[in-house]
Amino acid sequence: MSKTSLKSQPVSGKTAAETVEQRVDDLLKKMTLGEKVGQMTLFTAMWAETGPTIDRNFLQYVREGRCGSIFNAYTAAYTRSLQKVAVEETRLGIPLLFGFDVIHGHRTIFPIPLAEACSWDLALIEKAARIAATEASAEGIHWTFAPMVDVARDPRWGRVAEGAGEDVWLGCRVAEARVRGFQGDDLAAEDTVLACAKHFAAYGGAEAGRDYNIVDVSERTLAEVYLPPFKACVDAGVRTFMPAFNEIAGVPCTASRALLTETLRQKWGFTGVVVTDYTAINELVPHGVAADLAQAGELSVQAGVDMDMQGGVYFNHLEAQVESGKVTKAAIDDAVRRILRVKFELGLFDDPYRYCSEKREKRQVMSLEHLRAARIMAEKSLVLLKNENKTLPFSRTLRSLALIGPLAEADAELLGNWFGAGDGKQAVSVAEALRLKFGDSLRVIAAKGCEIYGGDTSQFEAAVAAASEADAVLLVLGESGSMSGEAACRVDIDLPGLQNQLAETVARAANGKPVAAVLINGRPLAINRLNEAVPAILEAWFPGTMGGSAVVGTIFGDANPSGKLVMTFPRSTGQIPIYYAAKNTGRPISPDKYTSKYLDCPNTPLFPFGHGLSYTTFNYGPVQLSAASMPMRGEIKASVKLTNTGTRPGEEVVQLYLRDLVACVTRPVKELKGFKKVYLEPGDSANIEFKITSADLEFPGHDLAPIVEPGEFEVMIGGSSAVCNGQRFTLLPDK
Ligand code: GLC
Repeated sequence: MSKTSLKSQPVSGKTAAETVEQRVDDLLKKMTLGEKVGQMTLFTAMWAETGPTIDRNFLQYVREGRCGSIFNAYTAAYTRSLQKVAVEETRLGIPLLFGFDVIHGHRTIFPIPLAEACSWDLALIEKAARIAATEASAEGIHWTFAPMVDVARDPRWGRVAEGAGEDVWLGCRVAEARVRGFQGDDLAAEDTVLACAKHFAAYGGAEAGRDYNIVDVSERTLAEVYLPPFKACVDAGVRTFMPAFNEIAGVPCTASRALLTETLRQKWGFTGVVVTDYTAINELVPHGVAADLAQAGELSVQAGVDMDMQGGVYFNHLEAQVESGKVTKAAIDDAVRRILRVKFELGLFDDPYRYCSEKREKRQVMSLEHLRAARIMAEKSLVLLKNENKTLPFSRTLRSLALIGPLAEADAELLGNWFGAGDGKQAVSVAEALRLKFGDSLRVIAAKGCEIYGGDTSQFEAAVAAASEADAVLLVLGESGSMSGEAACRVDIDLPGLQNQLAETVARAANGKPVAAVLINGRPLAINRLNEAVPAILEAWFPGTMGGSAVVGTIFGDANPSGKLVMTFPRSTGQIPIYYAAKNTGRPISPDKYTSKYLDCPNTPLFPFGHGLSYTTFNYGPVQLSAASMPMRGEIKASVKLTNTGTRPGEEVVQLYLRDLVACVTRPVKELKGFKKVYLEPGDSANIEFKITSADLEFPGHDLAPIVEPGEFEVMIGGSSAVCNGQRFTLLPDK
């Protein structure tokens, strides 16, 4: 077949989709089994290391038609050079797919996804993904292995950094926003990329919070907590999926036909590509469900895995498995059809080089507009956890400031983990942001005090001297970027090293002067000691390229923090898992004897889901309901009067929680079912209204099919999951 005939010209009388199907079928008929297996094979290039193995011969495999996709390669020039080999040196000239982990930015790095979710600004989250796709696609990338949509309720697990936290409903809304941002509304556009819903499924439920560990959850918990964000991705049009490394109740996801075919394709109607995680097929052998790699490959194909990431299992064993009849040709054709389809959808058969654009690269990458968006997202992601005596914002007329802590000068660390092609040297540290903002008008007395971890107190003395001398103290504490993300779990999620001691020592030396701590971290931390030591704490997460500017602007009041936690901060690691949407149990929490509590720690978290303060204050009026009852097919409106009772303009995330008081199965004491982010000038009020329908009251019944039951429901509206007042209504039975 001549290579030009691969172009997907419209076929008369056929729709674009029919044309694509026709072209896919035409091409499939001409492919050898080896070429088909090649399309099912993905190898890593050498521009990033994201897993345990690398095979340096990947380009030779492309040339032989035995590798149809590459990841961890970028820039227009480099991807063009690889694409040229596939298009011009192979028999059929089928273009390569280029994938990359564009998780929270490509070159312009945004705050980590957990931080972005704390903005509760879905439009901004979508915009951040849009910008990431714009930059990545200018550098030849067609496919990002994002969004990660694993609900996570165990902050010992390092990958909480990559998702949207503990809540199912919010997780679905953020997942949808990220898929829309990455894929846009036209995959053939040159600035959109394929998104990838990962890690399917329940990866966030790893036992003991240890990465890759077993997940043993009930079918109900799977259906109610872990699957919905993935279903939301399918409904948002996501074109690829990635199974998780873990098993669920004895079946590794990579070999789970129930998950990858029966649920994902047959029940949800997903028509895209399933790509494994890094060497996950090979790992079926140590999982103990495959005797050897050949069997591992057979199990994966039969489960519904289309593409083997880096494992080389399909590459080495699939042809023999087909020839022996253990794998059917039909199964191979189905997988290859799905892979070719997304390549057609991207327009790669029209122009394999359309995404390798030096011109767009120069115009788009780290543009001022993108950097400005990254700063705004960083500001909106900051969560003011504590602010006693209005310690913050610091006065702009301060004459001197002690800048103390192991992350005060950090630039690269601000990018966190999974920072794509980001350059840490281009990140703005807190120290640099202070210099940029104040120049010589503020005397900054810098003293690191201690390292992020380790036991060296030799720098304490200089820190104490700085705190004693300056008008105010800013501590910048937390984790290194590599202390969260993949394979980065912690058994003790307090501040590492001597940072607590440093904070306590410095706060004493400050002797009543304003002291505030900024946290740079990738997970909720059990910061009891810090909370005791300082009057103000600003959670900055890993805030990205413009993080330092966002932090300094907020510390000095140019921006008013509006972020709200999307994951509970425990008092102690021993409380984990602790999350707001808990069940009441038969012996609810109470100070009485024989109730569910600890002897050595309150049951409450240090900071609850939905918590976040402002430099102003907001008052919530009582919840008003439009009626005392609601017909099954009707609706009810719930509203509150919100007033800015402070002295500065501010934004408040008004949260709607519902409770099903009696149902055929136990239900959480509350579940987030809506929110509105509201801006109010000082003294202004607004009536914030939510519409509730029976769809908001749905839950999996005994057989896990969604049901709605008549009965009593409670509506709670507030600025946090812990601060809510409620009204009840009755859902009436269907007439
Ligand atoms: C890693 C991660 C996955 C990532 C992939 C490719 O092991 O688990 O999230 O997308 O490999 O880098």
